[in-house]
Amino acid sequence: MHLTILLVGVAALMAANAQQDSSNCETSCGNLTITYPFGSGEGCFYSSDFLVTCNRSSGEPIPYFRKSNIIISNISTDKSEMEIKASVGSDCYNSSGPTESRFPNIRLGNVRISAKNKFVAIGCDTNAYFIGKRGNEVDGTGCTSTCGRKSLLRNGTCSGVGCCEVAVPEGLRSSNMTIRSFNNHTNITDFNPCSYGFFVEQGKFNFSTTNLLGFRQRMPMLLDWGIGNLTCDDAKDTDNFLCSGNSECDQDYDGPGYRCRCKEGYEGNPYVKDACKNINECERGNHECDHDDQCVDTDGGYMCTCRKGYSGDGRKDGAGCTADQSTLIKIVVGISASAIFLLIFVTWLYLILKKRKLIMLREKFFKQNGGIMLQQRISRDGGSHDQAKVFTIEELKRATNNYDDSRIIGKGGYGTVYKGVLSDNRIVAIKRSKLGDQTQAQIEQFINEVVILSQINHRNVVKLFGCCLETEIPLLVYEFIPNGTLSDHIHNKGKSSAFTWDIRLRIATETAEALSYLHSAASVPIIHRDVKPMNILLDDNYVAKVADFGASKLIPIDQIELATIVQGTLGYLDPEYLQTNQLTDKSDVYSFGVVLVELLTGKKALSFDRPETERNLAIYFLYSLKEGKLFQVLDENLQLNDVPSEIIQVSKLAERCLCVKSDERPTMKEVAIELQGILTSMVHKHPWVQSNSNEDEGEYLLKELTNDYERTNDDNVSSSTFDTMSKHTMLPIANGR
Ligand SMILES: *[C@@H]1O[C@H](CO)[C@@H](O)[C@H](O)[C@H]1NC(C)=O
Ligand SMILES: *[C@@H]1O[C@H](CO)[C@@H](O)[C@H](O)[C@H]1NC(C)=O
Ligand SMILES: *[C@@H]1O[C@H](CO)[C@@H](O)[C@H](O)[C@H]1NC(C)=O
Ligand SMILES: *[C@@H]1O[C@H](CO)[C@@H](O)[C@H](O)[C@H]1NC(C)=O
Ligand SMILES: *[C@@H]1O[C@H](CO)[C@@H](O)[C@H](O)[C@H]1NC(C)=O
Ligand SMILES: *[C@@H]1O[C@H](CO)[C@@H](O)[C@H](O)[C@H]1NC(C)=O
Ligand SMILES: *[C@@H]1O[C@H](CO)[C@@H](O)[C@H](O)[C@H]1NC(C)=O
Ligand SMILES: *[C@@H]1O[C@H](CO)[C@@H](O)[C@H](O)[C@H]1NC(C)=O
Ligand SMILES: *[C@@H]1O[C@H](CO)[C@@H](O)[C@H](O)[C@H]1NC(C)=O
Ligand SMILES: *[C@@H]1O[C@H](CO)[C@@H](O)[C@H](O)[C@H]1NC(C)=O
Repeated sequence: MHLTILLVGVAALMAANAQQDSSNCETSCGNLTITYPFGSGEGCFYSSDFLVTCNRSSGEPIPYFRKSNIIISNISTDKSEMEIKASVGSDCYNSSGPTESRFPNIRLGNVRISAKNKFVAIGCDTNAYFIGKRGNEVDGTGCTSTCGRKSLLRNGTCSGVGCCEVAVPEGLRSSNMTIRSFNNHTNITDFNPCSYGFFVEQGKFNFSTTNLLGFRQRMPMLLDWGIGNLTCDDAKDTDNFLCSGNSECDQDYDGPGYRCRCKEGYEGNPYVKDACKNINECERGNHECDHDDQCVDTDGGYMCTCRKGYSGDGRKDGAGCTADQSTLIKIVVGISASAIFLLIFVTWLYLILKKRKLIMLREKFFKQNGGIMLQQRISRDGGSHDQAKVFTIEELKRATNNYDDSRIIGKGGYGTVYKGVLSDNRIVAIKRSKLGDQTQAQIEQFINEVVILSQINHRNVVKLFGCCLETEIPLLVYEFIPNGTLSDHIHNKGKSSAFTWDIRLRIATETAEALSYLHSAASVPIIHRDVKPMNILLDDNYVAKVADFGASKLIPIDQIELATIVQGTLGYLDPEYLQTNQLTDKSDVYSFGVVLVELLTGKKALSFDRPETERNLAIYFLYSLKEGKLFQVLDENLQLNDVPSEIIQVSKLAERCLCVKSDERPTMKEVAIELQGILTSMVHKHPWVQSNSNEDEGEYLLKELTNDYERTNDDNVSSSTFDTMSKHTMLPIANGR
C-alpha cells in the first residue's frame, strides 16, 4: 500500500515537470542549478539566449553562457538576473616595453550587462574604457588611473589613484574593452607591471594596493534579461507566454521583452507554470499579526484572527484585537471580583501584620522593662503563690474597662491610677506611670523592687500584686485601698474633725511598724524614701497602708509637691541626705518624724502661706517645743484643753526623729516600739480605744519600754523644756534588741 502511494507521488511529480522540462533536461551543471527559461539540452531552454553549455570534459563540469567562454555562476529567475564569472582585461609591460595585452569582448545576444555592475580599472599609468551596443545605439565609458607618489595609495578607495571606477550604462548587449598606457609604463614596472580593467558587481570588489602587482582572477558580473522582444500586453496573447497561474507579467519593467514574477504571497520560478507556490507567512514569522497564534495562512497571503470574545483586524499596524461587549463585561466582573478578593486579602494580611507588630512591640517592651529578668527571678525564688504576677495587657485592659476615665482614682505628676477589677473579682489599683528613658540599672532596680515588694505581706503595706511589662511604661497592680490618703484626712476640714487623736496615734503606730518591717524584717532592707501622709493610705477601718515605696524611685516625684533631684518630697526630706546624698534608713525616720508632727499639728509639712519662720513645719515644731509652746501648735481639731502625756511623748519622739544628725535619730524599730507603748498605755487609760496590736512578745517588750518613756516624759512635762540628753539616755534601751 505504501509502495502504491510512493508510485503515485513519483508519477505526479514527473507529470508536473513534463510540462516545461523534458525528462532529459539537465537541472544542474556543477554548482549551477539550471532553471527554465535556461536549459542545456535541445528543447530545454526558451531561446538560444538561455542556452547553458555544460563542459564535462575536464573534471568538474563548467557551465558556459551559450557557446561563449563566459562562465555562469548563478541564475536567478525571480529577479531575472544571472551572475557570470567575467574575465579581466590586462595590459602588461617590462622594461623594454609592452609585453602582453588581453582585452575580452563580450557578446550577449538578448541578454544585457546589468547597471548593477561598475567598470573598474587598476594601474599607475592607465586609461581603460569600453564601448558597447544597445540595439543599434553605441554607448561606452571609461576612467583613468595614475599613482603619482606611492604614499598616496589607499586600500579600499577607488578614486583615481591606483584604481578608478565608473558606472555602467543600462541595456548594453556587448562590450569591447580597451586598456592603454600613457608612458609605456616606464619607471613604474617594478610595482605595477600591468594595467587591468573589468566589470564587477557593485560591492564585490575592494581595491587593495597588492592588486597593482598582479591580478589574475575572474570577477563576478551581473547580467539581466527579458523574454523575447514584446511587451507584456503584446506578449500575453502569444502562444508561448510564460507568465501564468500565480505568476504575473512585470508591468514595471519596460523591456526589451517582458519579465514574469510571482504574485505577492507566492514564491518560486515565475517562468515555470504553477511553480509560484504560496508563502506560509505565519510559519516564517513575517506577518503583522499581534501574535503568531493569531495568524492564519491563506493562499497567497494570511489572515489575522482574534481570540474568542475579541474582534478587530488583529494586526500590529492596524486596530488589533479589542474585547467584545460581553467579554468586556466578563472582564470587568472578573477584575472587580479579583480586586475585592485582593482587598480582603490585603486587609486580612494588614490586620495580621498589625497584630504581629503589636505582639512584637509588646515583647520588646517586655524585654526592655526587664520581663525576662523578672521571670528568672520568679522562677529562682521558687515561684510561691504570693509572688509578683506578670499581667498581660489584655487582663489589665479588661480590668479597667479599657482605661475608662470613670475608673481614674488618682492623677498627678507621677501618672494616673485606675481602679480595676480582676477576673478573680479582686479590686486593684493600677498605676500607669509617666516615665522617661530607663537605664539597664534602673530596670534591674525596678524588677528587684517589684519582686521584693510583691513578697512583702504586711497588713500595713499596700500589697503589690504584680505588674505588666508589655507596655512601654510598666503598669503596677496594687491592692485597692478605699479610704483615701492620710493627708486627705488630716488636711480636709470635713474629715479632720472626726479624725481623733487615738486614730491618729494608731495610724502612726501602724505606719511605724510597716516602715520598721521594711527596714529590718523584709528579706532585703527597703528604704521607702518618700514617707509622707500622701503615701499612707487608709482602708475602711482606718488601718494604715504604706504605699508608693521602692517603686517611687522610678517615678518622678509629684511635681505639685516640689520635686528635687534628691528623691523625696521637700518638707519631709532628711536634711543630712540632702547634704550628703547618702541614703540610710534614718532618712525614712526623719520623714516619719514630719508625719508625726503633721498628725499632731494638722498643718502641712511645707506651706508658703505661713510666715517665713513657720514655713517648714519640722523646724517650726522643734522651735515651738523648745520654747514650750507645744500647745499652740497642736491641731485644733484634736479639741484638747491641755496637753495629754501621750502627746508630749509623741512630740518628744518626733523631736528625736527630726534630729539633724541621722546617728542621733532612733531606728524605725525603736520608734515603732515606743509608739506601740504609748498606744498601749492609752488603751489602759481609755479602754474604749481599741488596739490593733496582737503581738504578745512585742507587748511585753513594749510595756517595759513604755514605763521608761513615761518616766522620761514626766520629767519633760514638768520641766517643759526639751532635754536633748534624754534621747541619748534612751537610745541604749531602745537599741537593746
Ligand atoms: C562549487 O562549490 C564549491 C563549494 O561551494 C566550490 O568549492 C567550488 O569551487 C565551486 N565550483 C565552481 C565551478 O564554482
Ligand atoms: C571543453 O573543455 C575542453 C578543455 O577545457 C576543451 O578542449 C573542449 O573543446 C571543450 N568542449 C566544448 C564543447 O566547449
Ligand atoms: C544565486 O543568487 C541568489 C540570489 O540572487 C542567491 O541567493 C544564491 O545564494 C546565489 N547562489 C550562488 C551559488 O551564488
Ligand atoms: C620583455 O618581454 C619580451 C617579450 O615577452 C622579452 O622578449 C624581453 O626579453 C623582455 N625584456 C626584459 C628586460 O625582461
Ligand atoms: C568590437 O570589436 C569587433 C571585432 O573585434 C568589431 O567587429 C565590433 O564592431 C566592435 N564593436 C564596437 C562597438 O566597436
Ligand atoms: C593594503 O592591504 C594589503 C593586504 O591586504 C597590505 O599588504 C598593504 O600594505 C595595504 N596597503 C596600504 C596602503 O595600506
Ligand atoms: C611606447 O612603445 C612603443 C613601441 O615600443 C613606441 O612606438 C612608442 O613610441 C612608445 N611611446 C612612448 C611614449 O614612449
Ligand atoms: C623614468 O626614469 C628616467 C631615469 O631613470 C627619467 O629620466 C624619466 O624622466 C622617468 N620618466 C617618468 C615618466 O617618470
Ligand atoms: C570591501 O570592504 C568593505 C569594508 O571596507 C567590506 O564590508 C566588504 O565586504 C568588502 N568587500 C569585499 C568583496 O571584500
Ligand atoms: C522579435 O523576435 C523575433 C524572434 O524572436 C524576430 O523574428 C523579430 O524580428 C523580432 N522583432 C524585433 C522588432 O526585434
